[in-house]
Amino acid sequence: MEAGTRNSTRLVVLVSGNGTNLQAILDACATGDLPAQVVAVVSNKSTAYALQRAADAGVPSVHIGPHDGELRADYDARLTDIVAGFGPDLVVLAGWMRILTKDFLGWFPDRVVNLHPARPGELPGTRAVERAWHEALAGERTSTGVMVHLVPDEGVDDGPVLATQDVPIFPDDTLEALEARVHEVEHHLLVNTINTLCQQLSLKETPA
Ligand code: GAR
Repeated sequence: MEAGTRNSTRLVVLVSGNGTNLQAILDACATGDLPAQVVAVVSNKSTAYALQRAADAGVPSVHIGPHDGELRADYDARLTDIVAGFGPDLVVLAGWMRILTKDFLGWFPDRVVNLHPARPGELPGTRAVERAWHEALAGERTSTGVMVHLVPDEGVDDGPVLATQDVPIFPDDTLEALEARVHEVEHHLLVNTINTLCQQLSLKETPA
């Protein structure tokens, strides 16, 4: 379909795990709060519960696992074919735990959005909430955050920030309590940010 002739932004969501953020996106699409449709969910893990969430929502899903010893470039070439085949307006990394190559990113310039459970410049990589919680236990911090950013290159959890929000860490927090608080913030921040991007895309595509 040509740009400007549809009112629903096409999202491909990349996942590796539970998929609560995917669920927030699916729910917001279903209620009409997000003028978008998830056209595919792609996971690098066959066991990701996010795949079940996609199935429950009737959304096509693909598991693409890396082969033994496969180069990142080769994996990403396969990934590119699959993702591009769904014609996304935006590629959303919602708990996607692989670094994407610049070749992959070159196919979707300014269209890849990552969610990370930390403030910009802090705690890149895996287990960011757990590390923040340990730092709080050690008296080194009293808050952490969430950010949504564009992915311009292979920098880990780094790129132009679209939205960020602080999350307090309370002295009696268990890790589970902190994770739940972070997730709640993530679900809203991610959906709201995608919503803003949808508006910007539709403005760009509307003929003058
Ligand atoms: C989320 O907390 C997301 O921010 C994080 O993975 C979790 C996925 O949760 N992403 C990263 O850590 C990226 N470095 P979910 O599968 O329940 O949406």
